[in-house]
Amino acid sequence: MTSWMTNVVFGLFFLLGLTGLFFFVLTRGALLVRGFSSAQNSAKSHVYPLYSNMRLIKLVDFQPVISAILLFQYSTLVSKIVEGLGATNLKGKKVLVTSCAFGNVIPRVVDAAVQSGAHSVVIADIIDNELEHARGKLGHHPGKVAYVEDNATAMTQQAGCADANVMFFLLHELPHPLKIQALREAGRMLAPGGKLYLAEFHRPEVPLLRLLSWTYFKVFEPFGLALWDTHDPVNCLTEMGGWTCERSTYFFGNFQVITATKH
Ligand SMILES: C[S@@+](CC[C@H](N)C(=O)[O-])C[C@H]1O[C@@H](n2cnc3c(N)ncnc32)[C@H](O)[C@@H]1O
Repeated sequence: MTSWMTNVVFGLFFLLGLTGLFFFVLTRGALLVRGFSSAQNSAKSHVYPLYSNMRLIKLVDFQPVISAILLFQYSTLVSKIVEGLGATNLKGKKVLVTSCAFGNVIPRVVDAAVQSGAHSVVIADIIDNELEHARGKLGHHPGKVAYVEDNATAMTQQAGCADANVMFFLLHELPHPLKIQALREAGRMLAPGGKLYLAEFHRPEVPLLRLLSWTYFKVFEPFGLALWDTHDPVNCLTEMGGWTCERSTYFFGNFQVITATKH
């Protein structure tokens, strides 16, 4: 290898390492530090600092970066949810978005819900800055969208208030008991026949991808691995009862979108 090629390869690895370190410090690293402090008992103690600081939110929230983190499956996953909303008559109904997310998922979901006739869309998040940031992406649909500071595991919304609820990559960030609570809350807030759209990681079919994915979770997002087995959302919902679940997987099984209909 020529020396300039060696430099390029070295430079790429250095950049990758630096990016990894950046994300580690703002996610798992911060949670480890919090584990030793008194902040560990608050309702927000599982939330990464990345979601609290407006400068960091704006620094990271670029569609190509977010798409790359989801191995360029982001748009496909959002499309599956948008198709579901588009195929539902939501005339006069309320749609919930339980927690914000980076990228264009919120504008796409809100557009689809409004086009299907929804009279309101409630976006709920435990972090006020995330709601403020989401508001900045949604200049249109005046009067239709409400932003509510709320905890997915103990929501203030009334029982049966919504006909659709979108939960985009929230579960893998919640400690295990909170995953169950968030699913229970999603069920409580849906009217009979209402649909929960859940996008998440899934256990990959291909061993190499499984190993890479396992390593990613062990290093960055340790709460995510349980989605592969003990806290598989379809199993959890089935055990709770009162749901019919349909699961689609993507990219060799690395991702899933679950459409769960409440009885
Ligand atoms: C949905 S996950 C992010 C998924 C993915 N990393 C992304 O942004 O595309 C992150 C969001 O969930 C929110 N969040 C975390 N725990 C929450 C909870 N208990 N209730 C409501 N929102 C929560 C965070 O504040 C953040 O806005």
